[in-house]
Amino acid sequence: MNADEVAAHWENNAETWTIYSRAGYDRYRDALNTPAFLNMLPSVTGLKGLDLGCGEGSNTRAVARLGARMTGLDIAPTFLRYARETEASDPLGIEYVLGDGQSIDFPEASFDFVTAFMSMMDMANQQGVLNEVVRILRPNGFLQFSILHPCFVPPTRKNIRDEKGEPIAVQIADYFDERDGRIERWVFSSIPAEERSALTPFSIPRFHRTLTSWVSMIVGAGLVIEAFGEPMASREVAFAEPVVADTRIAPIFLHIRARKA
Ligand SMILES: C[S@@+](CC[C@H](N)C(=O)[O-])C[C@H]1O[C@@H](n2cnc3c(N)ncnc32)[C@H](O)[C@@H]1O
Repeated sequence: MNADEVAAHWENNAETWTIYSRAGYDRYRDALNTPAFLNMLPSVTGLKGLDLGCGEGSNTRAVARLGARMTGLDIAPTFLRYARETEASDPLGIEYVLGDGQSIDFPEASFDFVTAFMSMMDMANQQGVLNEVVRILRPNGFLQFSILHPCFVPPTRKNIRDEKGEPIAVQIADYFDERDGRIERWVFSSIPAEERSALTPFSIPRFHRTLTSWVSMIVGAGLVIEAFGEPMASREVAFAEPVVADTRIAPIFLHIRARKA
């Protein structure tokens, strides 16, 4: 599957994704994943950053609020329309551009850092994307990205629960299946069941890679890995947000920071 086909899927997802994530139904993102990512991010005050696969821009805005001068890039026009509307009504100085991570339309060494929140496992040709990231990073600039954890969220995953419905274990399979563009269909699990059943599920092409492949691609692009993060909900967060309690069994997300030598 190529990037144009991926873009068509995301364009179809964008409206529902934006409405429901902005209504607070992306609980993993809001309660756990983004706070952990921002906690791991080095100081970006005054730095020039690119948010790759920015979607409707929620996380781009979060990084801009830390004092970075941000550009958001995404392949799906509807996401960018929403992101630009928000920038117009609540300006943070963010520029949003339509583009493909495989051929980023900026000169060499134009950014101090790049973020990619939960987008790299959805991109075709990740090696090409990482090579492009390195090209547009200035020397000593960094990339920090989050992905579905390759070890604990491979293509097949099932939560095992006790009689009270509490998660107690995880069953996984197909770890070594690196098929391109495998379609996953789901909607945010916190949406009430009756509303969820009326929605067309997202259709998400995924490009799962093993942990070995991720490390090979990152190193192959000329980056040096300097930090890993595997966010786990605290007892308090898991109590307040039961949907994220399964991250106490095994991580769902992997955060990686790597630097251009
Ligand atoms: C799971 S969404 C994450 C959106 C956003 N970063 C967030 O955290 O809410 C994945 C995003 O990657 C974008 N995407 C997929 N392939 C891309 C590519 N080749 N170049 C740029 N963006 C891409 C999709 O359009 C989508 O917005």
